[in-house]
Amino acid sequence: MQKISSINAIQVFDSRGVPTISCKVTLEDGTSASAMVPSGASTGSKEALELRDNDISYHGKSVTKAINNINNTLSALVIGKDPNNQKEIDESLISFDNTEDKSKFGANAILAISLSVAHVAAKANKIPLYEHFSRVYKDITSDSATHSMPLPMFNILNGGEHADNNIDIQEFMIIPSGAKNFTEVMRWATEIYHNLKKILQKNNHSTSVGDEGGFAPNLESNKEALKLIVDAIKETGLVPGEDVNIALDCAASEFFNGKEYILKGENEKLTSSAFVDYLDDLTKNYPIVSIEDGMDENDIEGWKILTDRLGPNCQLVGDDLFVTNKKILKDGISKEMANSILIKFNQVGSITETIETIHYANQNNFKSIISHRSGETEDTTIADLAVGLGIGQIKTGAPCRSDRVAKYNRLLWIEEESNSILLK
Ligand code: PGA
Ligand code: ZN
Repeated sequence: MQKISSINAIQVFDSRGVPTISCKVTLEDGTSASAMVPSGASTGSKEALELRDNDISYHGKSVTKAINNINNTLSALVIGKDPNNQKEIDESLISFDNTEDKSKFGANAILAISLSVAHVAAKANKIPLYEHFSRVYKDITSDSATHSMPLPMFNILNGGEHADNNIDIQEFMIIPSGAKNFTEVMRWATEIYHNLKKILQKNNHSTSVGDEGGFAPNLESNKEALKLIVDAIKETGLVPGEDVNIALDCAASEFFNGKEYILKGENEKLTSSAFVDYLDDLTKNYPIVSIEDGMDENDIEGWKILTDRLGPNCQLVGDDLFVTNKKILKDGISKEMANSILIKFNQVGSITETIETIHYANQNNFKSIISHRSGETEDTTIADLAVGLGIGQIKTGAPCRSDRVAKYNRLLWIEEESNSILLK
């Protein structure tokens, strides 16, 4: 195998116009590939550190320090290595950084290298990236992964930190659970999306979109949002709860004041157990099959109540709660919090650690959902990760805005080129 001969990172921009890193890795024979790093807005407090310059340029958001770390320091650790050795490369970067949260060189710097190494290895091996990810999974865990197409959660209505409106729940998502293949998944999702737009227009609501491409109308309440989505599913000729289900991402840390959950739209202040009642009531009245971050990341008692009550019938996803971190997941599982985990590369900062967390989740019957960030680029690595590891679920925004649709379009090509890969 050709060895890595150079690494070059530059500053590019994400879907919010905020600086991020694009990193290119080149092999001795000139083969090269690049990848870009995403960025969150409603971040968990225990995420690995996204290193930013914090000076006057780009409102403090430029990433030249992280880029210099790649080009001037970290590159020396990676040049001369075989790009197939993902684990060895990631571990050398992690141990050189030697901090719990990758704050010395930046998780964004380390992840940029980690991702682009995987891309160049797949290219050099002349295999699709998802196939390469299966090999890396096997290398790291000694277990095999079976390819499958993931079922998406499409975030079609936005509130919380992702939109300037009155809705407290951050994401209202549709899951085309009854579709026969990925092509049908996309047809249903886009038709529902466009019907929702028509319904909003008819009711004189705004159809401008939030960070992840979902509509961000100024609705009265979470319940009104759910009702409009159910109407849009029916308008498409599909059956809510059969063909299409609903998932929520409450991102509850954003409206928890340390004691109570403050619902602006509903004009209510709820204790943990009252907020569980509120969510329970929503699941009884709408076809909700998955709730992410239903409780604040530090509300351990609340999480226990939620898991105990809703866990048997509903997927309860820890995002800010677990931050893709195996140690934190392990602790959460021992405390019986949630029953599944959201997976975001940049919360932990390398492919190897991400795969170790997914493997640990698999071993403990926790479902994984591969996820984008609210700040994204045209990079589609997560689509291949979902297929290669046979994860079964992906969440990457509305079927709108190219930073979101790029991932869905990549999945359509995977389905086209390999019709033996079926929906999980
Ligand atoms: P974030 O949002 O990327 O802003 O954290 C996505 C999510 O909460 O799932
Ligand atoms: Zn979330």
